[in-house]
Amino acid sequence: KMTRVVVVGSCMTDLISYTPHLPNPGETICGHRFSVSFGGKGANQCVVATRLGANTAMVAMVGDDSFGQNYLQNFRDNGVDIAHVGVTEKAATGVAQIAVDDSGENCIIIVAGANLKLTPRDVERAEEVIKGSDVVVCQGEISMEATLAALKLARKHGVKTLMNAAPAVPNLHPDIIKHSDIFCVNENEAEVMTKRKVKTVQDALEAGKLLLDQGCGSAVITLGKDGAVFCQHGHQDFHVPAEAVTPVDTTGAGDAFVGALAYFLAYHPGLTMEEMMHRCSKVASVSVQAPGTQTSYPTRSNLQSTLFA
Ligand code: RIB
Ligand code: NA
Repeated sequence: KMTRVVVVGSCMTDLISYTPHLPNPGETICGHRFSVSFGGKGANQCVVATRLGANTAMVAMVGDDSFGQNYLQNFRDNGVDIAHVGVTEKAATGVAQIAVDDSGENCIIIVAGANLKLTPRDVERAEEVIKGSDVVVCQGEISMEATLAALKLARKHGVKTLMNAAPAVPNLHPDIIKHSDIFCVNENEAEVMTKRKVKTVQDALEAGKLLLDQGCGSAVITLGKDGAVFCQHGHQDFHVPAEAVTPVDTTGAGDAFVGALAYFLAYHPGLTMEEMMHRCSKVASVSVQAPGTQTSYPTRSNLQSTLFA
């Protein structure tokens, strides 16, 4: 079994409180439900790609604690190759404290912990598996140095790079976008990256062009219920609408989209980008209709077979 999708990224234990509304500063509110689950953008994306049928490997770091051990087991349970997931004594496994309100909106505090201990050297140890893959996927929850090392290794071996610059950082290393074949952000992250308001499809198309000017091969901007746009120099821009659904919990929907995109790039490279994005949007819309992140991701057998044609 050859690994076709490699995710170099984060693992977080999600501590999720479901509450009528999101708390204001200084306010104490009573939530109605709590759950501990597996999250982190990198791992979420890796699990989505795996559930769709990809052979995947994760390059990551967890802490030497129970959250870390449980996380390793979660990867095994999902069939993710963890030969390059390290355990560090220098920091605790990453955690995300998440509040989700009754409309499905969320608010997240992450403490990246062990994720920030993954070094460029650790990433370079995964060179062989990266070299043999089709797509390397990165996000913004590990150090920029480690991310850049991954993108550079992928480029060195002609492997496609998919960078999801989430969460938003105002000072993203300029080489990260330059090493991204596909640079994917949501509307908030696009605003931070372009210093412009991104509210409408038209705003997103304009922001996409500004991202291209920063050096990525192509740009995807996701807009939640409004779908996503795609921009690439020399190609027609387009907008892909999202299916209208009633969200239960939108946490991790962006990860469902990116993980699905990694899967389609590796396993259905003949599809147009527009068709891939339609299918990714379908996977993301399934995820918002169930609580949690990985707990809400469908497997291939839960989806219409036309998605894999
Ligand atoms: O994108 C959703 C993820 O962001 C959550 O799983 C949480 O861990 C945070 O990293
Ligand atoms: Na969900």
